[in-house]
Amino acid sequence: MRRTRPLLITALIGSLLLAPAAADASAGPPDAVPGASGVGDPYLPLAGNGGYDVVHYDLDLDYTPATRQLKATARILAKATENLSRFNLDYQGPPITSVSVNGRRAPYVHEGGELVISPRSALRKRVPFLVEVSYAGSPQAIDDPALGVYGWVPTDDGAAVLSEPDGARSWYPVNDHPTDKASYSIRLTVPDGVTALASGEPLGRAVSRGGRTTSTWVSREPTASYLVTVAIGEFTVERSRTKSLLNITAIDPKVSATDGGLHQTTATVTDWAAGLFGRYPFSSIGGIVDKVGVGYALETQTRPIYDGRLPSTSLIVHEMAHQWYGNSVSPATWREIWLNEGFATYAEWLWSEQHGGDSAQARFDRIHARPDTDPLWRRPPGDPGRDDLFTGAVYSRGAMTLHALRQTIGDERFFTLLKRWAAEFRHRTASTADLLALAEKVSGKELDALFTAWLYTSGKPARP
Ligand code: TRP
Ligand code: ZN
Repeated sequence: MRRTRPLLITALIGSLLLAPAAADASAGPPDAVPGASGVGDPYLPLAGNGGYDVVHYDLDLDYTPATRQLKATARILAKATENLSRFNLDYQGPPITSVSVNGRRAPYVHEGGELVISPRSALRKRVPFLVEVSYAGSPQAIDDPALGVYGWVPTDDGAAVLSEPDGARSWYPVNDHPTDKASYSIRLTVPDGVTALASGEPLGRAVSRGGRTTSTWVSREPTASYLVTVAIGEFTVERSRTKSLLNITAIDPKVSATDGGLHQTTATVTDWAAGLFGRYPFSSIGGIVDKVGVGYALETQTRPIYDGRLPSTSLIVHEMAHQWYGNSVSPATWREIWLNEGFATYAEWLWSEQHGGDSAQARFDRIHARPDTDPLWRRPPGDPGRDDLFTGAVYSRGAMTLHALRQTIGDERFFTLLKRWAAEFRHRTASTADLLALAEKVSGKELDALFTAWLYTSGKPARP
């Protein structure tokens, strides 16, 4: 079933293009309304858009590292959720050269990070439509005073993409919010001799023609826009297959001449995590080590990006744990970021505990011993604010919250909860309220006091 999806999408796109175009605007529904410019995220009000759901992104990217020029076409298959007179995409990339909807040129306005498209005839609720946007120029990374550098990041020999939380708009037009996951196909064309990778699985072999090489990458499982990655440059690539999973790791030889065990450790860690969290949610694993210069790693789907050096085992555990917690079970809003970082950090603690290192209890105790005046206790992780998405408390107090929960409900129920959380919200989004409800169901205990103290109350919480 899953394997046929890209074919189905190709057929759908074809039939949309062949369908006789509605003759004039009057063919659209009379009660059409403009789609919203955001999905209502409390931290990022313009992230995502209303009025439609994206089914699939087909991205055709041609990049020349020496000139940093990108020439691209994005084909977006979406389904209207209301009768739409116009709709928005999030976009802050190179200049647009053309926009069409269902094969007909469409007027558009591009202002700030919003691309507003007015199809010639209004879109009908529940009916799929195809948007095609072509653009060319030099993509710029987003450089935010609080969140750092993210999005499409040019490197000295290519580019790397790390888009959390809303950087996808720097390189393709997108409904840029985890609540609208979609499948992806990405075609990368680069000069012969340059290596190009993306998240997901390669489709066939790379093809070279006229001095340029094209590779195609497919993500069949639902993918949040911030987790889509591309890496272009000089890389040493290793491929293998473990059980059902393809493993692809790539290392910039300027970072390291050897892989330092990344390939094997990623496979080992994934197996370990699947034992604790349940079946791996995607079709391949791996990792990319590149000189990006942003100073952080990102759990890009199937293939995390590690910046500047070979990752420690603990960092591999963190990023691979995100494949379950963050990538498959994604935050319903960016306020829920602790559901990503608290779980990934707690996975590091569990790895340590089960591999001869400190126990989770020891780590909890060490952090809890910090004085009441430590800044860690100032801002509770349940609502860190947009500028502090990646602040220490989100990670460590988030992990402590899970440990306090484990202490309260016991190991057996806690580990059942970890699996059920991943299973019940697989490939979806979830909130802290969903976790509280599931934890209460699994344990039969009232847990809101614990959640309130650990996630929403400033000051050091009492031990459970
Ligand atoms: N989500 C990343 C991780 O924990 C971290 C991250 C993303 C980050 N963007 C950031 C950290 C910006 C600091 C600044 O793996
Ligand atoms: Zn993380």
